[in-house]
Amino acid sequence: MNILGIETSCDETSAAVLSDGSVRSNIVSSQRCHTDFGGVVPELASREHERLIVSIVEAAITEANIAKNDLYVIAATAGPGLIGAVMVGLCFAEGLAWALGKPFVPINHVEAHIFSPFISDEAGHREPKGDFVSLTVSGGHTLLSVVRQTLDYEVIGRTIDDAAGEAFDKTGKMLGLGYPAGPVIDRLACEGDPDFHRFPRALTASSQTSKSYRGNFDFSFSGLKTSVRTWLEAHDSEYVQKHQADLAASIQAAIVDVLVEKTIAAALLYKVNAISVAGGVSANSGLRAAMQAACDKHGLALFIPALAYSTDNAAMIATMAQLMIERGKYRIEDNSYGVAPFARFEAARKGAR
Ligand code: KG4
Ligand code: ZN
Repeated sequence: MNILGIETSCDETSAAVLSDGSVRSNIVSSQRCHTDFGGVVPELASREHERLIVSIVEAAITEANIAKNDLYVIAATAGPGLIGAVMVGLCFAEGLAWALGKPFVPINHVEAHIFSPFISDEAGHREPKGDFVSLTVSGGHTLLSVVRQTLDYEVIGRTIDDAAGEAFDKTGKMLGLGYPAGPVIDRLACEGDPDFHRFPRALTASSQTSKSYRGNFDFSFSGLKTSVRTWLEAHDSEYVQKHQADLAASIQAAIVDVLVEKTIAAALLYKVNAISVAGGVSANSGLRAAMQAACDKHGLALFIPALAYSTDNAAMIATMAQLMIERGKYRIEDNSYGVAPFARFEAARKGAR
């Protein structure tokens, strides 16, 4: 069974082919046109996707060494994401599916991140046994969920303001690190002192009484942003420059501490024996190391997708389609074209657009 996956929800144009459950190709083109703007410019993103989509899909099919007609289904992100960007991939995928007479599988991008540890490739197949707690952390989302093998999941926590990736990107912007700043903070943090300054860890045991904290799995990162801004305003630029790595390490430590504390607390409360961390921020080396250490301490198995599958990619879209077909969440006979794109995760969960 060959599945073509297409992903265009933000600033990565990606196409992948999955053959019999294993990744045969995964082509990702990251847009560079947003760097000078300090964030993704929606219209530029849509235009870039439209410019690249044919060549990226063609490259994925060529690398997989299959013919278009050998595809069983075509899958694409239907949301959440920048609506114009989503629509480029969705319309292209539906048009291609219709022209080839193949079914189309609409995919929820966040769900694809949640199940990205299940991606199979030449490195093998990784899948937690039994229920697990998933931390999904990207530029647009910060979700804590309890996930079942049936692909059902319950969201138990989410950010009430900025996403974890935004916390990296916005504080990094204040430090003049460009966009996206997450990977740059990660690199700088390796040479800095995480105890240089203690930035706030909102909604954690250390910030609240244990009673109000218990069972609160929501996140908040806007206070961290304000705190970094206030600190920067209080210090001259030479001092800030001198301590750039220390600041990066201190910011990263504040974000990582919150993510690890809440994820472990959720795993213990829901009595699961595995944790998964997915989404762009799961590429962070500090988060990977701290989560591994915490999991080792509590006897929990940790699943983190390979770096290529942490940030946005189409292999996770094709894998999600495969899982939905296999586990009865998508029926080929229900195929229809003209799927409504959606911008927000919550809207899709409620069935609204
Ligand atoms: O999953 P993703 O590629 O796109 C969204 O769905 O948002 O995540 C992108 C986010 C950005 O905020 C980026 O700064 C962050 O992931 N990111 C990182 C790292 N690599 C990517 N954040 C911290 N450390 C990294 N190494
Ligand atoms: Zn994403």
